[in-house]
Amino acid sequence: MALSSLKITDFRCLESAGIDFDQGNNLIYGPNASGKTSILEAVAYLGRGRSFRGASIREVVRHGQDNFVLFGNSRVGSRAVALGVRNGTGGLEVHTDGEKRASAAALAEALPLQIIDPDVHKLIAGGPEDRRRYIDWVAFHVEHGYLDLWRRYRRALKQRNAALRGKVSSAGLSGWDRELVGLGGLLNDARERVLDITRSGLQELGNSLVGCTIDFDYQRGWAADRSLSEALITSVERDRQVGSTHAGPHRGDLKLKLDERQARKLVSRGQQKLLACALILSATGVVQTHLDHQLLLLLDDPAAELDSDSLRRLMEAVGNLGCQVIATTLEANRDLFDAPPRLFHVEHGVVRTVG
Ligand SMILES: Nc1ncnc2c1ncn2[C@@H]1O[C@H](COP(=O)(O)OP(=O)(O)OP(=O)(O)O)[C@@H](O)[C@H]1O
Ligand SMILES: [Mg+2]
Repeated sequence: MALSSLKITDFRCLESAGIDFDQGNNLIYGPNASGKTSILEAVAYLGRGRSFRGASIREVVRHGQDNFVLFGNSRVGSRAVALGVRNGTGGLEVHTDGEKRASAAALAEALPLQIIDPDVHKLIAGGPEDRRRYIDWVAFHVEHGYLDLWRRYRRALKQRNAALRGKVSSAGLSGWDRELVGLGGLLNDARERVLDITRSGLQELGNSLVGCTIDFDYQRGWAADRSLSEALITSVERDRQVGSTHAGPHRGDLKLKLDERQARKLVSRGQQKLLACALILSATGVVQTHLDHQLLLLLDDPAAELDSDSLRRLMEAVGNLGCQVIATTLEANRDLFDAPPRLFHVEHGVVRTVG
């Protein structure tokens, strides 16, 4: 599912840009503040319906404009899928193949992508939300019906939390508890299955990128020695005090270990980045194999925080995956890739193909 073309209108500093990407390696270079990350952000918006920089819509629409518009074509084998996203004062609109879609999930199916940017170390050092999103991304692509399960679980959770705040009796909560136990158990099983298949690739990448044994413990979001049903009953008083549910897969986390020690506490910033890259590349490999299609990997300033040897190992691992790559750098650093990239220069938001 390579992205073959992208048209950008009024996104960040990009007033109007058209880019034809190569199915292999692409390199966008230009000085600081020229618009490199904005282009990757636009690509990712087309595949996710949101900003990977966590930006609000007001920040993303070009100053002085009401909406931005993105059009792209992704290719799955010989089949092309047209993608369209518009957002701003008119709200989010998503189109695939000319049809209006109810949610951004249609984009994620047509253009699965992963991002490695200078903030990627947060996947290791930051809070659990990003790690849950990481597991859920693999499960969404690999486990049939996962998104639907997740939506039903989230709805039941919202309703249980509202009931907690409304001082509903324990008998009144039991219906929501049953729902959470059923759906939460299925979500957890799916997560465990996908993590199982991610583990061996992660260990290999850990060895080649960080040079030590890496592994993880999956913490499912409630105590290991009891069922979810028991955990919900045990925590109900605490849940009532804060008006939210403490047990369940929405509290799950991944504890990374380096040579058996907790990665979070030990590793340097550069090692955290390499570890996070190992996680992302192993997940990309799993999804790519499962879908039997090329995936898209966005690399924003891959050299950030890395010495030349680490960068070389990272790019070697990226090359081994065989996905479509769109990378950004300050200079036209062609040698970053094993195979020569298609080259784009960007300056003051104007993009030019140079080779
Ligand atoms: N909504 C917006 N409208 C217009 N310009 C914007 C908007 N949001 C950000 N910008 C500007 O876009 C420019 C490009 O930002 P971007 O982050 O893409 O640069 P970059 O090329 O990645 O730079 P760096 O090399 O420093 O990472 C910046 O000058 C920024 O101030
Ligand atoms: Mg940038």
